Amino acid sequence: MIFMSTLACNTKSREHFVPLAIQESVSLRQAYSKWFDIGTAIPLMTNLSERERDLLFNQFGVVTPENFMKPGVLQPETGHFAFNEADSSVNLALEHGLKVNGHTLVWYRQNHDWIEMSCDSPDAQAIIRERIRQHVSKVVKHFAGRIGSWDVWNEAISDSRNEYFRPSKCSEEFTQDLIYEAFAAAHEADPAALLLYNDFGIEYPTKREKALRLIQYLKARGIPVGIGIQAHYTLDNVPFNFLKDTLVAFDRIGVKVAISELDIDVVKTPKESCTNKMMMGDPYPNELPADVDNRLADQYKSLFSLFIDHSSTLSRVSFWALHDGRSWLNHQPCERTNHPMLWDRQLQPKQALKAVIEVAIAKDSASGH
Ligand code: G3I
Repeated sequence: MIFMSTLACNTKSREHFVPLAIQESVSLRQAYSKWFDIGTAIPLMTNLSERERDLLFNQFGVVTPENFMKPGVLQPETGHFAFNEADSSVNLALEHGLKVNGHTLVWYRQNHDWIEMSCDSPDAQAIIRERIRQHVSKVVKHFAGRIGSWDVWNEAISDSRNEYFRPSKCSEEFTQDLIYEAFAAAHEADPAALLLYNDFGIEYPTKREKALRLIQYLKARGIPVGIGIQAHYTLDNVPFNFLKDTLVAFDRIGVKVAISELDIDVVKTPKESCTNKMMMGDPYPNELPADVDNRLADQYKSLFSLFIDHSSTLSRVSFWALHDGRSWLNHQPCERTNHPMLWDRQLQPKQALKAVIEVAIAKDSASGH
């Protein structure tokens, strides 16, 4: 609180620079409030301990359901919707003043049969078209007024140079049409919602160009569209320059960017290091060695420095877990002890958190506020 009021009223000079000692009384959300929202992915609220909930409510401003609103969860059988659990978690978030970003209306994974792409015949195409429309429409209407932004379509674009979309049984033209229909249905169901196309790897030129093409296609058809850059990075391999170019490119076409799933994997795990889903020689089963911890802090610091410099393009920066113990990177591609977040498994702040707060103070001070 002390820090927040200093940051907000810090309008005179650099003499107002807040010493590190005070920073710990400042939340991450507060430190960044003048630039963009800070979010995190969460499991169902009922799966969070009281301490985890405190961390969530004190430090973050937006939640994204990590798994509990995926298509197969909300529509487990064709035509049958299951909203109760999602409703409770969404309502609890709202009661604590958090915003909710819905994730995800359409994805090629975590579906049920109702969305299996079969484009073999005009009839099959009509069915898939109708089912996508119905799912999107029903879900967005159900949460209208409570969920302000949606990841409408997740990971449609191909990583390869040759194709526009990732391979499926449907033609590229039909896929683009379907994507438009999903966005149009979401827009119709809640005209106030911001609608995001969400993907990884769009920092890199090949995929960036395709993402720009898709976004411009949707924008030209009247969709209030934004882009979600997932930002799943690996230590010592964060693509700072490519990311910067991508932020500039989306700014040029007037499209807001959400950094939607940020984490930095510190355990490089090629698939061949996995046996029976376990990693051979888990390198950091306890805490991180100081040099790795410091590199993680430095790389998060540089990222947030870049984010602040491009804050006019950014609507939100969301992490893909509350703390190390909750990260998917402990389980995929196989079981290991990972340390990708700003808080450790005991919910203690790491050097990376201090670094990220520190850069906010330094930038605020340098801007003369
Ligand atoms: O809930 C079951 C549990 O009952 C079962 O015992 C256990 C056995 O494996 O699996 C549990 O389900 C797992 C689920 O996470 C919940 O923990 C699934 O196997 C597992 O595949 C699933 O992984 C999720 C993954 O999406 C699915 O592809 C990760 O938690 C989630 O973090 C990840 O999130 C994705 C984003 O949605 C899109 N962008 C990439 C990101 C990371 O892959």
